[in-house]
Parts: sequence; C-alpha cells; structure tokens
Amino acid sequence: MSVRPSAKAERFTESVIREMTRLAQLHGAVNLSQGFPDFPAPEEVKEAARRAVSADINQYAITWGARPLRQAIARKFERLYGLPVDPEREVTVTCGSTEAMIAALLAVLDPGDEVVVFEPFYENYGPDAILSGAVPRFVRLRPPEWGFDPAELERAFTERTRAIIVNTPNNPTGKVFSRTELETIAELCRRHDALAVTDEIYEHILYDGAVHVPLATLPGMAARTITINGMSKTYSVTGWRVGWAIAPPALTGAIRKVHDFLTVGAAAPLQEAGVLALGLPPAYYEGLARAYETRRERLLGILGRTSESLAEIRDRLPVVFNTPELRFPCAESRKFEVVREVRERLRRAGAEMTDIDGVRVRTTDGWWLLRASNTQAVLVARAESTTADGLARLKQELAAELTASGVALPDA
Ligand SMILES: Cc1ncc(COP(=O)(O)O)c(C=O)c1O
Repeated sequence: MSVRPSAKAERFTESVIREMTRLAQLHGAVNLSQGFPDFPAPEEVKEAARRAVSADINQYAITWGARPLRQAIARKFERLYGLPVDPEREVTVTCGSTEAMIAALLAVLDPGDEVVVFEPFYENYGPDAILSGAVPRFVRLRPPEWGFDPAELERAFTERTRAIIVNTPNNPTGKVFSRTELETIAELCRRHDALAVTDEIYEHILYDGAVHVPLATLPGMAARTITINGMSKTYSVTGWRVGWAIAPPALTGAIRKVHDFLTVGAAAPLQEAGVLALGLPPAYYEGLARAYETRRERLLGILGRTSESLAEIRDRLPVVFNTPELRFPCAESRKFEVVREVRERLRRAGAEMTDIDGVRVRTTDGWWLLRASNTQAVLVARAESTTADGLARLKQELAAELTASGVALPDA
C-alpha cells in the first residue's frame, strides 16, 4: 500500500493568511492578516437567521440556492448595476465565494488550459488553478497605483487561454480596477474568446471615492463572465459561508453540477437571512464603507503618526513585502520555506526584521514597517525607532487603542 497524498495536494500548502490567524491567536498578537470583521453583524440580519432556525428551515435548500435568495441576488445586482440577472438560470448559491471560485474553475477549465491571474493575488487562486488542472499565467500589478502593463497582459493571453481571474476591489493591494482597465481586459477576452471570472467580495468596501464596476456590465461581457460574491464581508458574517456565482445559463448549469457534488448546498437558514440582508437599503452600504474608512484613518493614525494621506504614503513606499519585486518563484509547497529565505536575504541586505509579520525597511525617512493588509489598504507603519523597544511600544499602543475602541483582542 502506498500511503501518500496526491500529486495535486503536494503542490500547495495550507493557507498562509489562515495560518497567520492561528499563530496570532496562539501568541496573542494583533491580527492584521486575515480579512474578517471583529465587530457584530447587523442585528436585523442575525434576527432573520434566528427566525429561520425557529421556523424549522433546517433541511437542505435547493442545491443551487433557495429561490428567495437567488431572487434577492438578482434584484440587488440589477438595482446596483442595471444588468438583469435571471435567478432561475443564472445564479448558483455556494458555501462562500471561496466555493463559488473553485466550483466555477472546475466547471470551465480543462487540464492544460491557461488562466491569467494578476499578481499579487488572493492566495486561493493558486491552489484553485492547480486543483482545476489549469496553468496560471501571471501578470504583474505594479505599485504604487497597482496598474498593469497592457502589453504584458496581451502577451499573457495565448491560444490556450480559457479564462482570466479579476479580483476588484483587490486583495491584497486595495486596488479598484478602473473602467478603462476593465475595457482592456474585456477586449482581450472577446478577442481570445476567453471567460472572465471576477471576485467582487469587497464591492462595498471602497475608499476615497472609488467606484466599483463589475466586468459583466461591459459590452458583450455578461455572456462570458462569472461574477462571484458573497455575504462574508458585506454583512460581516464570514463564518456563515454563503456566497454565489452569477453566470450565463450554459455555465451556470456546469457550476451547479460541480457545486452539488462539492458541498450539496449552503446553510439553509442562513440563506433565508441572506434574503433580508441583500434587501438592506443603500444607507446600510454607505454606513459600512464610512465605518471602514473611519477604522482605516484611526489605524493609520496609530501606526503612521502622520497626517499624510494614504496616497502620499504609498507614493513613497520604497519596497512592499509581497510585491513581485520581492517574490522568488517557488512551488506552492515551498512557500513558507521561501518566505523564510526571503526574510533572511533581506536581513542580510540590511533590512531589519520584526517579530511580527512584516519587514522593516530603511528609507531616507527612517524605518518603515511594511505589511499588506487584507482589507484594502496597504498598512504602513513608521516605526518610532529601530529598537525592539520602539516596536514593542508601537504594538502596545496599537493594542490599547484598538481595545479602547471596542475591538476585542485575544488575551496577550
Ligand atoms: C479576495 C477574496 N475573495 C474571497 C474571500 C473569501 O470569501 P468567502 O468568505 O465568501 O469565502 C476573501 C477572504 O478573505 C478574499 O479576500
């Protein structure tokens, strides 16, 4: 008997950000890695879930999603973006957008197909591509604005390209793709007869007047786009695991089949609560974005001790940990090892390592602590001093400020 994992499973490791959360809990660290809200979900949404459980909506929903939720998803998309969606033929409810993404890729990719991925990228897309047997082709997003070079994107499209993954608003860079950029992507998709799979989970968490444009709303794109979204971030319920994919009927049929055999269906009572959530008025979404903006300003205030705008800080970034410039090509399974190696190389090159996840880098203005956040902003902290004491003080003050503002921190 040969007791061994599959070659596929050997090619990637467990999730880095979820590992960071585990380590943060273990060490009582302030966790800036995984994107989950640490404040209550809207009361009326929780109440709707309680009502659904009490009303015994406790058995399997229709595998591709309870009809009222699919209708609510279609209504909201049309209301916000003017694109009609057929809840009967174009919507699949899944266990989070995470399942929507893997179900979509399994449904449309064959071994050897190529899928274009912008990097840096939300880490799931790598293993998702491997599990689907596809070959990822990476195109760089370049700081400080995280734009792409249209010529590089054009070169990434080949006769084997089957799809492109577009995550906007983007994790980890915070970039919101402009309509012009999306038009470039759409033109290439049409020219190469390729699909677009979009991850729009941060659609409502926008800063500085940014506007979210779903790729599916561009001319000709509804017929070749799978739009993925979910309740996790918009309603602050990441543990509920309710997401969805909107796709043209032919693709929806395939996605529903894959989804059925992956998970059967998302939690029935929480789908009911989703109906209420998706019907919340515009004021809810405005409040959500404002609250995130306030938190961002507070955190930047604590970390940066500076009145500079985020854009000014970004412009001055000499180097950002995780950017392509600091990436060393490696197999997924060697990721942790390579991160350690990169840190060691940087240390030898004179960058000072911190004991929290990040890198301190010297610039003409002193030392900066760099860390890409999951919730849109690139968090940049200017360390008070180069000493461990200075950093410890910074961490302590950050923890005190967060606690004072009602954020529950793990026991130190
Ligand atoms: C870009 C992106 N997509 C998807 C997810 C996961 O979403 P869900 O909870 O709907 O599976 C995350 C979570 O961090 C994310 O950052």
